[in-house]
Amino acid sequence: MYEAAAVSESMRALGKEKALSLSVNRKYVEGWGRPGDAGVLALDEVQQPLGAAWYRLHPTSDPGYGFISPTIPELTIGVCADTRGQGIGSALLRALLELAEQEGYAALSLSVDRNNPALYLYEQLGFQDARVSEPEDTSLTMIKRLR
Ligand SMILES: CC(C)(COP(=O)(O)OP(=O)(O)OC[C@H]1O[C@@H](n2cnc3c(N)ncnc32)[C@H](O)[C@@H]1OP(=O)(O)O)[C@@H](O)C(=O)NCCC(=O)NCCS
Repeated sequence: MYEAAAVSESMRALGKEKALSLSVNRKYVEGWGRPGDAGVLALDEVQQPLGAAWYRLHPTSDPGYGFISPTIPELTIGVCADTRGQGIGSALLRALLELAEQEGYAALSLSVDRNNPALYLYEQLGFQDARVSEPEDTSLTMIKRLR
């Protein structure tokens, strides 16, 4: 979660413990294991985690930042800074999309800062502008429709 959240300077400045205690971040991991929660981990050869991608359903009363509907899970992804750019993020996303499809979801959503290069990765994997964000919003909500 920290690797996924520490994109902005302000979040990095807080440090791991403080950043993870913020409700903006907690809502994606707190009480992990509730119905609908699912994810994939990338591990190195000695089983150390290199990154993770997961999704979670959010109720309309307590939506995530990339919320579209309570039946469309929102994804989060983070890869350890020293192993980025090696295909781990793409592999995690492909595995997660497959999982969501197997679970029968119609779509996945996400929220990404418009300046984050991760946006290109999402586009490469078929995510599109969900048309719920305003042009002046710094973040864009995206959707990937599944079969
Ligand atoms: C986004 C993230 C998960 C991608 O993981 P990764 O293992 O680096 O991704 P890959 O190596 O599989 O793919 C890289 C692709 O992502 C894009 N990309 C993502 N971050 C990038 C960066 N900092 N610089 C350049 N390209 C980047 C590029 O389109 C690239 O495609 P290319 O190799 O064809 O040029 C990882 O960079 C990360 O953890 N970033 C910080 C957290 C974050 O931004 N999470 C998403 C919040 S919405």
